[in-house]
Formats: sequence, structure tokens, C-alpha cells
Amino acid sequence: MKSIVCVQPNEFKMIELEPPVMGQGEALVQIRRIGICGTDLHAYRGNQPFFEYPRILGHELSGTILQSASSDFQMGDQVAIIPYLECGSCIACRNGKTNCCTQMKVLGVHTDGGMREIISVPISHLIKTEGISLDQAALLEPLSIGAHAVRRSGLQQGELALVIGAGPIGLGVMVLAKQRGAKVIAMDINEDRLRFCKEWAQVDYTVNVLDHPLKALAEISNGDLPTVVFDATGNARSMMDSFNYVSHGGRLVYVGLVKADLTFNDPDFHKKELTLMSSRNATREDFDTVIQAVHNGAIDIDRYITHRVSFDLMINEYENWFDPANGVIKAIVEL
Ligand SMILES: NC(=O)c1ccc[n+]([C@@H]2O[C@H](COP(=O)([O-])OP(=O)(O)OC[C@H]3O[C@@H](n4cnc5c(N)ncnc54)[C@H](O)[C@@H]3O)[C@@H](O)[C@H]2O)c1
Ligand SMILES: [Zn+2]
Ligand SMILES: [Zn+2]
Repeated sequence: MKSIVCVQPNEFKMIELEPPVMGQGEALVQIRRIGICGTDLHAYRGNQPFFEYPRILGHELSGTILQSASSDFQMGDQVAIIPYLECGSCIACRNGKTNCCTQMKVLGVHTDGGMREIISVPISHLIKTEGISLDQAALLEPLSIGAHAVRRSGLQQGELALVIGAGPIGLGVMVLAKQRGAKVIAMDINEDRLRFCKEWAQVDYTVNVLDHPLKALAEISNGDLPTVVFDATGNARSMMDSFNYVSHGGRLVYVGLVKADLTFNDPDFHKKELTLMSSRNATREDFDTVIQAVHNGAIDIDRYITHRVSFDLMINEYENWFDPANGVIKAIVEL
């Protein structure tokens, strides 16, 4: 079985490995698509804290069943993999919040992932994806992050939501907020990405952070400001500034994350009676929301994919995905 292993920062190797043995309660999946995201790029560069090498990356995965102990999954069935392996018994898991398990192991991050021909995964983490394509199935994961953030925010039809950061994660938040019937403002520093938000996520407004954002937001909202703000930048400055963009009584959701301390002014926080929340990973319910939206034609995953390469050529292409000039939103690897 061929596998691409990140042996140390900045070095991939194509290696021949023994195929995995199917464990109890698991199924063998032939991997067919691997989506690449910021986490994979950081891990390759050695910028991902607490990352161990060698590691097989890849957590945005779809494929077909090779072997399974469950009659629910037959050989040849097309599946997506939920890569968040939770313990099932901690306080978060007991409360149904498996997405923030205390012992969380994400495939391709904390444990070996899908950059290989065959993987053995728990049957509980498979989703049947008949009626959607392999590409679409692999990209349920990054979009489910957006679905989770939107669900967590309690966003209602007709509400005005601001999404800061128009990368693949922010785009997912935007498209799922639109699905909920909200009015959506996209904010970024990058005009190309803002244009893409209009075309792809059909956001109602775009605002460039470099151009008096508070004034623009006040104008759009008749002085009220958005009732829900999502920050998906991964930028500490933006995350702290985002307190200013939320209406009185509003909610602020950190989808993006930074390895840093953030500060805020308590009188500002209090006078608005803000609700601040983080959003981590996703649950099966969020994957189901995305599948439904894909089925309804509400998410154009084909246009979300900007770059594509075969598994055999991935190592040669990978470095190119770091160059902003190449305009990568989502790269996908085919096997
Ligand atoms: N919640 C989760 O479980 C989860 C999962 C995956 C990724 N993430 C995080 O989500 C964040 C976004 O991921 P991504 O892959 O979309 O990243 P990305 O870098 O592709 O996109 C970030 C976007 O934010 C914009 N931006 C940066 N600084 C800004 C600022 N000051 N003001 C406005 N816009 C700014 C950039 O121009 C870019 O378009 C990262 O922090 C990532 O770690 C969270
Ligand atoms: Zn990812
Ligand atoms: Zn747990």
C-alpha cells in the first residue's frame, strides 16, 4: 500500500506500507479523495504546535468500502469519514459534545490520517454519501466546521451576520448562514476573496477591513450592527477588534483560533451583554446539514475546489499551494 508520510517538517516521502488490519468495529476504506487545508500546510511546515513526526496527514476524506463487519456498509459503498475520534466517555462526550472531547484524536493530526491507499476507521465514523460525488464527500468536513459554528450561534432567519475571514473556513460559515436565511456580510482584507464570497456564497454585502469597517457595518445595519459575528481569520488583532462589530445583546463566535492570549475591555463587553463562544470541529449532525445543503444544490463544492492533483504527483505540487499568488482556496488529491 502506497502512503505519503510527512517524515519531518518540509519533507514528504512516498512509502510502501503494509495494508492496515481491520480492527473490531472498524471498516477498511479505499481512500479516493483527500482535501488539503491550512492544518496540513502548517503541519508540513512544522508550524503546528505539539505535532509529532513522522505523521500521515489527511483528514478531509472520502472513499469506498473495501471490507466491513457491518451490514450497513457493503463493499463498494461510497463514504465520507468523520475524522474526529472521540473517547466516548469524558464529560463532553457524555453530554453529546463529542466535537470537544477531552481526549480528542483527529485523524491526520493526532493520529495517522488518510494520505494512503487504505485506512481502517471505526464504522461509527463513516457516512454514506450516495448521490453526491467523491469530491463533495471529501469536503463535507471543512464545510461542517461552518455548519457547527452557525448552529452553535443559534442564528435565525432574517438576522444580520458578519463573517470575518473569507478563507475556506469562513466561506463555509457564510454559505451555511445564508442557508439558514440570514443576511450575511463578508469581511476580509483581500478583495479577490471578497469577490469570491459574493459569487460563491452569495453574501449580501462585502466590507474591506482596511476601509473604515465600523462605519460600513453601521451603514448596512442602520446603526444597529450585526447581531452575530463569526471570526474565521486566525488573526489575534481581528479577533479582538471583532468585539466592536457586534450589536448590543449580540453573539460573537470564534471559529478561527490563535495560539495567543486575547484581551477585551470589560465595560464594552458588559454594556453590550455580549455572548462570546468558541466553535470547535463538528458533529455528525453538522455533516448531515452540509450533505442536505449539497443535495439541495445550495453549496457548489466544484467551484470551492481550485486545485487538483493525483496522489502520485502530490509531493511535487504541495509547495505551490503555499504561494498566495496561486489563489488556492481548496486543493484536492485524487487516488
Ligand atoms: N473551529 C475549528 O474547528 C477549525 C477548523 C479548521 C480551521 N480552523 C481555523 O479557522 C481559521 C481560518 O482557516 P482558513 O483555512 O479559512 O484560513 P485562511 O488563512 O485560508 O483564511 C483566513 C482569511 O482571513 C483573512 N484575514 C486575515 N487577517 C485578517 C484581518 N485582520 N481582518 C480580516 N480578515 C483577515 C485572510 O485574508 C484570509 O482570507 C484558522 O484559524 C484555522 O486554524 C478552525
Ligand atoms: Zn481541514
Ligand atoms: Zn471524550
